[in-house]
Amino acid sequence: MYSRIAGTGGYLPERVLTNAELEKMVDTSDEWIRSRTGIISRHIVSPGETTVDLAEHAARAALQSAGVEPQEVDFIVFGTTTPDLIFPNCGVLLQQRLGIHGCPAFSVEAACTGFIYSLSIADKFVRLGEAKCALVIGAETLTRMVNWKDRQTCVLFADGAGAVVLKPSDEPGIVSTHLHADGRYQDLLYYPGGVSKGWVEPGDGQGVQMRGNEVFKVAVNTLGRIVDETLEANKLQKSQIDWLVPHQANIRIIQATAKKLEMPLEKVIITVHEHGNTSAASVPLALDVGVRDGRIKRGDLLLLEAFGGGFTWGSALVRY
Ligand code: UT7
Repeated sequence: MYSRIAGTGGYLPERVLTNAELEKMVDTSDEWIRSRTGIISRHIVSPGETTVDLAEHAARAALQSAGVEPQEVDFIVFGTTTPDLIFPNCGVLLQQRLGIHGCPAFSVEAACTGFIYSLSIADKFVRLGEAKCALVIGAETLTRMVNWKDRQTCVLFADGAGAVVLKPSDEPGIVSTHLHADGRYQDLLYYPGGVSKGWVEPGDGQGVQMRGNEVFKVAVNTLGRIVDETLEANKLQKSQIDWLVPHQANIRIIQATAKKLEMPLEKVIITVHEHGNTSAASVPLALDVGVRDGRIKRGDLLLLEAFGGGFTWGSALVRY
């Protein structure tokens, strides 16, 4: 038994924040942001709008594209680092929004790799026959944790939600997933406050802390390694991958991974220019864009990959 993606969905908050607006907020320029990151604009939440608000839109879109009623969902796993509340977890809050009750629902906190971790977990439950219709979410409101005076981070991060529905199948589906973490890199990218350590507001030198240049180098290396690991585990040649669906952190990191795979950028789903870095939402959002605009077709072989704070990183080989 395997699991396969029966439908995808995505949602971006309405408010668009352009590079021109950021020029008025911090000492930066449209030219710098475009050339160093590839980002032109990004979507951010409005006051009062939450991670679960975004996730509900994405989930309903995924259910619709899968032709599934909410009542059929029997498993919810929700990747996020920016939950609405400490508890109930976002999975349960989403379950309530969808009007369903009783199935397991939980969140997974793995920063930008949250969706890949969640997909891997849901895949196991479906394969074991313990879930027949799993809803997998990646959703974030990362701009709530950004220091809007820190030009290095505030130009990068953004908000959004993506979702997939997994159903059992005789053929893969999710071919393999590969998850990793290494806490030696925790100081390169982290948020300095939490519940037991004490909350820290994101302003005044606080907010997401990042040593961008070092993150960049480790990201390129780890993503290169996980691409090799995924290909080797499945005895695949690079040329057999139809689409790379990468975490949308920086166009230059995406280009490095595509180069490693010897893939032209035409075979890479790129949304970073319009989405920015939406953390756990970025891979399912990019997947949904590629599916809905008709580039990704049934039967195509996809390589999904992500890395994030921790560090955490992971990949999924998917026969769509
Ligand atoms: O999901 C994971 C999340 N994090 C990431 O993926 C981050 C990965 N890292 C990156 O994407 C890049 O390292 C950045 C985009 C953050 C920075 O690009 P870079 O090419 O590595 O620049 P840099 O850090 O080496 O900085 C170059 C210069 C510095 O000025 P000096 O020291 O050369 O005078 C920075 O102060 O650019 C300056 N700088 C900026 N200038 C204008 C840093 N941020 C900005 C900015 N606007 N927003």
